[in-house]
Amino acid sequence: MKKVSILGSTGSIGVNTLNVIRELKDEFKVTGLTTNKNIDLLEKQILEFQPEIAVVGDEDKAELLRKRLPSGIHCNVLSGEKGLLEAASKGDYDILVAALVGFAGLKPTIEGLKRKKRIALANKETLVVAGEIINNLARKRNSEIIPVDSEHSAIFQALVGESKESIFKIILTASGGPFRSATLEELENATVEQALNHPNWKMGNKVTIDSATMMNKGLEIIEAYWLFGLPPERIEVVVHPQSIVHSLVEFVDGSIKAQLSLPDMKLPIQYALTYPKRLRNNFVETNLPEIQNLTFYEPDYKKFRTIKLAYQALEAGGTAPCILNAANEIAVEKFLTNEIKFLEIPKIISEALERIPYERVKDIETIYECDRKTRGFINKIFT
Ligand SMILES: NC(=O)c1ccc[n+]([C@@H]2O[C@H](COP(=O)([O-])OP(=O)(O)OC[C@H]3O[C@@H](n4cnc5c(N)ncnc54)[C@H](OP(=O)(O)O)[C@@H]3O)[C@@H](O)[C@H]2O)c1
Repeated sequence: MKKVSILGSTGSIGVNTLNVIRELKDEFKVTGLTTNKNIDLLEKQILEFQPEIAVVGDEDKAELLRKRLPSGIHCNVLSGEKGLLEAASKGDYDILVAALVGFAGLKPTIEGLKRKKRIALANKETLVVAGEIINNLARKRNSEIIPVDSEHSAIFQALVGESKESIFKIILTASGGPFRSATLEELENATVEQALNHPNWKMGNKVTIDSATMMNKGLEIIEAYWLFGLPPERIEVVVHPQSIVHSLVEFVDGSIKAQLSLPDMKLPIQYALTYPKRLRNNFVETNLPEIQNLTFYEPDYKKFRTIKLAYQALEAGGTAPCILNAANEIAVEKFLTNEIKFLEIPKIISEALERIPYERVKDIETIYECDRKTRGFINKIFT
C-alpha cells in the first residue's frame, strides 16, 4: 500500500485525488492533507481518511479545527507555511501530490523532492518559476516527477517506451476556454462570471482565469520545456475545443501519438499515482461515435497575447518566467476582485517583463527575491 500526502486537498485537484483514492482503497492510504482556509471540508476529509498530519494555512482556523476534531481522531494539526514545510519534509508518505495553487507550491515541493519521493505534480507554477533548480534537485536526489496536468500526462504517456532522440515536437492542445470565439471587443468587457465559466473543465478560480486568458497554455509551454527538454520552437499549441485529445507527440518519422479520453482530471491523477501500472476504474467511458468530431486550429495570438508572452519569457530565460508568473498571479487576483479589466491582465504581464530586469538564476533565493520584487512592482502601480 502506498502512502499519499496531498498538499491542497481542499482544492479541485485535491478533491479529485481523494475521489481516486476512495475508489482504490486497497492501493493507497492518505497520510497528509492540507488547506489554506477551508477547515469545514478539511475536517470532513480528516474524519473520512484519518491522516497522521493535517495543515491549515490560517493559524486561527487551525486552532479552531484542533478543538473541533473528536478525541478518537489522532491527527497532528499544524499551521502556516512552517506547518506545510514540516508536513512535506517530515511527513510519512511515498507520493506527494503537489496541488497547491501558485507560487505557494514551490517550497513544499522542493521539500518533497529532497526526500527521494514521487511528486505527482499539478502545481505547474513550480516548474515555471524554478524549472532548472527543480530538475537538478530531482536528478541529484533521484526523485520522480510525474505530471498531473492533463496535457503533460498525455505527453508523458505517449513517450513511454520512446527515446528522447525520436521526438520531433510536442503539440499541446488547448480548449480555447470560455472566450474561444469572443471578439476583442467582447474580451474588453469580459466579466469575472463569464471568465469563470469554462466550457469543459471544473477547476479552481486561478487556473480557470488562466484558461480564459490562455496564460494557462503559456505556463504549460514552460512546464513542458522543463519536463520534456525540447527547445521552445518544438513545443506548439493547437486549439482543440472538444478537450478529448489531451496532447500529442510528433516523432521524427512523422508518426503522431496522442492520448484521448473525455475530460476528467481523475484519469491523469490516477496515472500519476499508479504509474507504471494502469488500474481499472469507473470514472470515464469515452464513446468516440458519440463525440463524432475532433477539430484543431491555430490559436489567435492577437486575441490571446499571453501565449507569446510565455514564449518570450522562456526564450529570455533566467528570472523572466518567474516575473511572468508573479505578474500573472497578481493580475488574476486583481481581475477576480474587479480591480482591473480582463485585457489588463496581459498588459500588466507585458509591462512587468519589459520593465523588470531579468537575472541569471543562481539559486532558489534568486527566485524568491524575483517573486517579491515583481509583486512589489505591480502593487506599486496600483497604489
Ligand atoms: N483544477 C484542475 O483541474 C487543474 C488541472 C491541471 C492543473 N492544475 C493545477 O493544479 C494546481 C491546483 O489547482 P486547483 O484548481 O486544484 O486549485 P484550487 O482549487 O484553487 O485549490 C488550491 C488548493 O491549495 C490551497 N491553497 C491555496 N493557496 C494556498 C496558500 N497560499 N498556502 C497554502 N495552501 C493554499 C487551497 O486551500 P483553500 O481550499 O483553503 O483555498 C486549496 O486546497 C494549480 O497549479 C493548477 O494550475 C489544476
